[in-house]
Amino acid sequence: MNIENPSFFIGKGDNDGFISFGSGQPDLPPPKEVYDILPDYRSFKYGLIQGQANLREALAKQYPNANPDNFVITNGASEAIDLALRALYQPGAKIFLPKPYYYSYPHNVYLARMEPVYYELENGKINFETFKKDIQNCRIVLINSPSNPTGTIQDLDVLKKIEKLAQDLGIYIISDEVYKDLIYERENYLLENGNVLTVNSFSKTFAMCGFRVGYLYAREKAIIKKVIDMKNHTSMNTNILGQEMAYEATKVPRSRIEAQTKIWKERRDLIYNGLRDLGLDLWKPEGAFYVFPKMKNPSKVVSDLYCKYKMIVYNGVWFGDSERVRFSYALDAEKITEGLKRLKEYLSKEYKEN
Ligand SMILES: Cc1ncc(COP(=O)(O)O)c(C=O)c1O
Repeated sequence: MNIENPSFFIGKGDNDGFISFGSGQPDLPPPKEVYDILPDYRSFKYGLIQGQANLREALAKQYPNANPDNFVITNGASEAIDLALRALYQPGAKIFLPKPYYYSYPHNVYLARMEPVYYELENGKINFETFKKDIQNCRIVLINSPSNPTGTIQDLDVLKKIEKLAQDLGIYIISDEVYKDLIYERENYLLENGNVLTVNSFSKTFAMCGFRVGYLYAREKAIIKKVIDMKNHTSMNTNILGQEMAYEATKVPRSRIEAQTKIWKERRDLIYNGLRDLGLDLWKPEGAFYVFPKMKNPSKVVSDLYCKYKMIVYNGVWFGDSERVRFSYALDAEKITEGLKRLKEYLSKEYKEN
C-alpha cells in the first residue's frame, strides 16, 4: 500500500485495535470549563470578523504591552499562517522555512504564490552561521520552536540573534508557537519586535483541535487590516461557540497547564527510552509531543506498520526528511507501551529486509 500523505490518517482514531502515533492531536481532555458553557449557550449569529472582543482582550493580557486590536481570531493556527503569508505577499518573494518542517508550511507558501527556501536543521537545531547567510534575500522567516516534527526547541541565544538579525534586515518573522506550553526544559521565549507575527492556537494546550480556534498577533496594524479584509471574503468570522470556549480556556489557572506538561514529559521519557532501547537513532525531544527516529525506507515502515501491525506512524518525507519516521506520543502510557511492543516485533521480524 502506498500511503501518500497524512490526510489518509487524519481523523482516524485508535479504533479497531489500532494504536495511532499519527496525528498530533492531544488525547488529554479539554478543561471542563470549556464545555460547561454548553447547556446555556444560545448564540448563533455572525460574529466579528476580527474575533470576539472578550477573547481578544483576554489574549492581549497574555502578551507584554499588547492591544486587543492587534489580534485576529482564526480557524486554528492553520488559517493564521495562511492569512499572515498572504497579507505579506510580494511577487517573487522567498520565504525561509525550517527543514524538516510542519508539513503544511511549503503548501501555505505556494498557495500564497511565493517561493519556499529552506534552512536545514542539524539534529533539530538551527545552525545560526548558515542561517545568517541564507536568510539574506528572504521576505519572511518562519520559526517553529518547539517544533513539529523534531520536538526540539531552539536555544535562547539563537532565538535572540534571529530576532535581531531579522529586524536589522527588515525581514518579517512568523513565529508558530502552537507548542509553547509544551516545553520540558525551560520557559518559552516569546519572539518580539515590530516585525514579528505570533501564531498560536487552542488546539494543543487546551486539546480543542476540532473547534478550530487559533490566532494571529501582529504588532503592525496594517497587517491586521489586510488580514481582516481577506478573512471577510473567505471564512468570515471564526466559529463563535469555539471562541466562547476558548475564552473560558484563557481563565484556566496556569497550574493546570503545568500539570499536563508533567504528563507529556512522562510520556516523552517512556517513548524516548523505549525507542532507544530498541536500537533506534533519535534525539531526546525538549518540547511538543513528537519523536523523530531515523529509520530505513520510511514509506515501507509506514505501510508495514499500518497493514500488518495496526499501528499508525507518519513518513518523514511528509515533513521534508526521507530518513525518519514521526511518532506522536499524544496517547496514554498503556498504548505507548503496546505500540513499542508491536514495533519490537516488527523490527525483529521484518525490518532488516527494508
Ligand atoms: C507546528 C504546527 N503549526 C500549526 C498547526 C495547526 O494547528 P491548528 O489546529 O491550530 O490549525 C499544527 C498542527 O499540528 C502544528 O503542528
